[in-house]
Amino acid sequence: GVCEMSNPGPAFPRTVADNPSDPHDREVMLKEVLEGLRRHQKELSSKYLYDAVGSALFEDITRLSEYYPTRTERALLERWMPEWVELERPAALVELGAGSAEKSRVVLDEMERLDAGNLYVPVDVSGDFLHETAGRLREEYDSLIVRPAVADITEPLTLPGKLPEPAWFALLGSTIGNFDTPQATRLLCRIVGQMRAGDRFLMGVDLRPGPNKSQERLEAAYDDAAGVTAEFNLNVLTVLNRELGSDFDPQGFQHEAPYVPEASRVEMHLRATSPQNVHFHGADEDIVFVTGETIRTEISCKYNRTAIDGIFSDAGLTVERWVQDDDGLFALILARRA
Ligand code: AVJ
Repeated sequence: GVCEMSNPGPAFPRTVADNPSDPHDREVMLKEVLEGLRRHQKELSSKYLYDAVGSALFEDITRLSEYYPTRTERALLERWMPEWVELERPAALVELGAGSAEKSRVVLDEMERLDAGNLYVPVDVSGDFLHETAGRLREEYDSLIVRPAVADITEPLTLPGKLPEPAWFALLGSTIGNFDTPQATRLLCRIVGQMRAGDRFLMGVDLRPGPNKSQERLEAAYDDAAGVTAEFNLNVLTVLNRELGSDFDPQGFQHEAPYVPEASRVEMHLRATSPQNVHFHGADEDIVFVTGETIRTEISCKYNRTAIDGIFSDAGLTVERWVQDDDGLFALILARRA
């Protein structure tokens, strides 16, 4: 099947430079960034959006009135977890891209209430953030065992020790949307590779526009009136200036985030409002922008049942339950190995 294909796909944007202050990592990051910026459609890996400032801005985004995904997913978790956890009785929860673990609390609460299991394995690239989250959870949940794993979820996954059965693997917040279909399939294949027959995969996804979900509403979630998302997007230029000694002028760029129906995704771009010449420390050629040229900084793919069934079938998963809110904004999915 698709999962066994050894084709690793394009190297970009999978290489990680976790600690760019290390000269080797800086080298890796510079190479990757320049490769993306030399493309016809200039692009940057979305991971550079999530430094400490960017992660804090994303947390602010999740509280904006325009940004419906977070609260819609939370409502779905609150509505369905009592039933699903009672039926499946997960002994462990492995959360990929755990961040502040805000959403997983709803699952952990039910696991505790029903005395189903007490192991939580949050996985995240940001070690500092992860250990802080782990500490807080240990304080809040008396009998919870927290075994954090620092890892890039797009890299082959090795979990600490053997998991009790059945385990739930969770990918919430429509995190999957950051990956194009081949990347998403590879990520799910790796998760399925860790799953045993009784294990389950829990995922939250943002849905495509529909009868009760206008494209305008979708776009407003990525271009809020207060300008928080614009600040979040522009922050990536500050990250590059700091980590790579480049001289981007954030004032020379503006935030845009259109929904592209042909690709069923929102694309975040930074558009040059005047000609720009950007020098990177240690690079021999500048990166040149003509007026109106953009850098794509993030994709946020949107789904429907057919799209998910396609990716799941390639990755070896079968949807067991699919629930969504009344307006069809967001879906929560429980799947098992096919
Ligand atoms: C964290 C990838 C789910 O795509 O909605 C929010 C990121 N970017 N606003 C999303 C994001 C701009 C978010 N994900």
